[in-house]
Amino acid sequence: MAFTIDTSAASDKSEIYKTLIPQINSLIEGENNLTANLGNICAALKYSFYSFIWVGFYLKSINNKNELILGPFQGRVACTRITFGKGVCGKAAENKETVVVDNVNDFPGHIVCDPLSKSEIVIPVIINKETVAVLDIDSGEYSNFDETDKEYLEKMIDNIKHIFKNE
Ligand code: SME
Repeated sequence: MAFTIDTSAASDKSEIYKTLIPQINSLIEGENNLTANLGNICAALKYSFYSFIWVGFYLKSINNKNELILGPFQGRVACTRITFGKGVCGKAAENKETVVVDNVNDFPGHIVCDPLSKSEIVIPVIINKETVAVLDIDSGEYSNFDETDKEYLEKMIDNIKHIFKNE
């Protein structure tokens, strides 16, 4: 399979997202395996932005509806379980809202996985008004995420969330 995410010509992050989002849509088209699709989405995102040091999904546990469990990711080894309400991921999962953190050291209860992480964005995946997963992205730069990332990443999640209903 030949698939290249070429975002090298993009002048700003809006341009990168505009190139990347349709590519992610076509990347998952025709494949209904959740693990494979989430793995490829993480890789596509991580290798499109130099500042992203960790990109991954946490999925709601089947056995404990109050817990997220580490899913496919790109980056360093990470913590495996996060309770709803804890850390940035747990807050986004519990409140069903995207959380943008300019400086992770200032976020009460932030869970340190990669000490190089400086800022973070977590986007919940909501199906039937329930959080089924979150997408977590860590940056090696402070204040890396803003409204532009929020807007495009929420759109990307909205486009792909149907894959959570398969398999
Ligand atoms: N920092 C996250 C934990 C997950 S890692 O960043 C991969 C949090 O506070 O929820």
